[in-house]
Amino acid sequence: MCGIVGAILKEGAVLRGMIEGLRVLEYRGYDSSGVAIAGPQGLLVQKKAGRLEELENVLAETQFPDGLAGIGHTRWATHGPPTDVNAHPHTDTDRTIAVVHNGIIENYLELREELSASGSRFLSDTDTEVLTHLIAREALEGSLVDAVLRALGRVRGHYAIAVLRPGAQPEVVCARHGPPLCIGLSKEGAWLGSDILALIPHTRNVIFLEDGDVAELKVDSIVVRDLEGNLLERTAQRVDWDAEQVGKGSWPHFMIKEIHEQPDVLAQTAFHRLDDESGDVKFEEAGWTDEVLQGVERIQIVACGTALHAGYTARHLIEGLARVPVDLDFASEFRYRDPILVPGTLAIGISQSGETADSLAALRRARELGARTACICNVAGSTMVRECDAALMTHAGPEIGVASTKAFVAQLVAAYLLAIRIGRARGQLSADEGRVLLQDLRLLRPKMESLLSKKFLARMIEIAERHRGVKGFLFLGRGINYPIALEGALKLKEISYMHAEGYAAGEMKHGPIALVEAWMTTVVITGHGLLAEKVRSNIEQVRARGGPVIAVGADRESLELADEAIEVPDCNEWLSPILNVIPLQLLSYEVARLRGCDIDKPRNLAKSVTVE
Ligand code: F6R
Repeated sequence: MCGIVGAILKEGAVLRGMIEGLRVLEYRGYDSSGVAIAGPQGLLVQKKAGRLEELENVLAETQFPDGLAGIGHTRWATHGPPTDVNAHPHTDTDRTIAVVHNGIIENYLELREELSASGSRFLSDTDTEVLTHLIAREALEGSLVDAVLRALGRVRGHYAIAVLRPGAQPEVVCARHGPPLCIGLSKEGAWLGSDILALIPHTRNVIFLEDGDVAELKVDSIVVRDLEGNLLERTAQRVDWDAEQVGKGSWPHFMIKEIHEQPDVLAQTAFHRLDDESGDVKFEEAGWTDEVLQGVERIQIVACGTALHAGYTARHLIEGLARVPVDLDFASEFRYRDPILVPGTLAIGISQSGETADSLAALRRARELGARTACICNVAGSTMVRECDAALMTHAGPEIGVASTKAFVAQLVAAYLLAIRIGRARGQLSADEGRVLLQDLRLLRPKMESLLSKKFLARMIEIAERHRGVKGFLFLGRGINYPIALEGALKLKEISYMHAEGYAAGEMKHGPIALVEAWMTTVVITGHGLLAEKVRSNIEQVRARGGPVIAVGADRESLELADEAIEVPDCNEWLSPILNVIPLQLLSYEVARLRGCDIDKPRNLAKSVTVE
């Protein structure tokens, strides 16, 4: 959940590149930050509670010196509140080394006792400081990498760390066991970062460290070892993301930029995969063959948050189009219950980052129980992609806004493609049926664009203005649009901090209807076919009790019944979630903006939840 950067350069200065790296990693955690530089006279450390700007201000005010090697960190507190002292990097008593860390050291209390008894003085409440003293004690003699190896042998837990030791030849070592870490060589030297976003301004050739890897960064080479010190071969992968995609351009927030990218995301995720001749989709990734898919008896989806909502939609799609039974669970629940997986289960994880701790653990559990594993994921080289038997990449490009938008739409598109692929592989869909579904997908792009027109945006602002002051929101949907109700509520609560609940519309009279009153807005996603009528009666029930209703969707009759109508172009039912979610994303964005919230960095949240 924290962001780590580091570098060792041949010449020049490391600080600016590190700060830029921290800026793009701030989405991982943003309650405090810090840097350490290997200066000629020893370690120089500056850290500050608050956003990265606070650190930048202190660095400028103190004319903080620069150097050829350094490490930096942006924190999301786990042990100890976000204060200057608890911010990383941490140093040992004699300030011989500095450490930044993402993760949790489980046996830190016993290590802390032992180290205190032998003279280490602890300044912070963090588990990381224990690791710092431990490495420093081991580093009294020999190389830093050997000290790190010995220290890690004593540690239980999850970590991505970077360690810096100043000297005539500064040393930078990093290690991974759990949270992600990648490294790369550029013309200027070697870089490390929690994710590729921090590396792509310097190099597109990236090594994704694996669990148990310890890497020593030198100006012209990188040496990777296992925890026993044996040398390992790790090859760099070429990353196709652009440095420009990492910037906000002229947009006020990443979230709104990413919402506007969604029509392009549809094209990037799908269009190169559509094969009209066979009425099928062709995945460039291995593992989705007819043979594999014909052997699937059941699908088990595991995911968290927004990705789980994509999972609910995927269940409708796969059951509806391919007629394979699908179970679905929160990854955090699945991993700790005692699930029963029938032979022939395909476990599918859905994740933007591919690093969410619970989702990874759930997939590992499914594998232990005999399932084949696959994922729908946005980040090439991520742990999930590397660990699964098959991956389906969403190609949404880097998503930086903490509230997921374009990655969600890409997951919905990927799920649609997957349902067609399974349906075709198993003979549930004919080539003609497949062709119609592919064509419907192509026609979606202009429809998505129409929901991002100036006129439409102005209407969303008006609606947001009228409802920004209510007590709370209820989001209702049915069938394939029930997950969109869940997603609408999640988006609103996470960025505007307003209370919002997503419900299956049919459940309304079993409880939530008690909430209905003039200051509770109900957002209803209109239905298709049989369900359209049912949703209409939900709207009438809310209105009869004096509750304002915003209806979103393509069913005209429902729209006419509501106080506010947000008309969405018509499309086949399977694709309707992709259109319906756009106004809900915009509504959350505008409500949060009008309420003055920090949209790209909502309080208490981090984008990539790499710890439990
Ligand atoms: C909400 C949001 C989170 C993530 C969840 C899973 O806007 O972004 O709910 O969807 O933390 O993250 P990934 O998809 O990276 O596994």
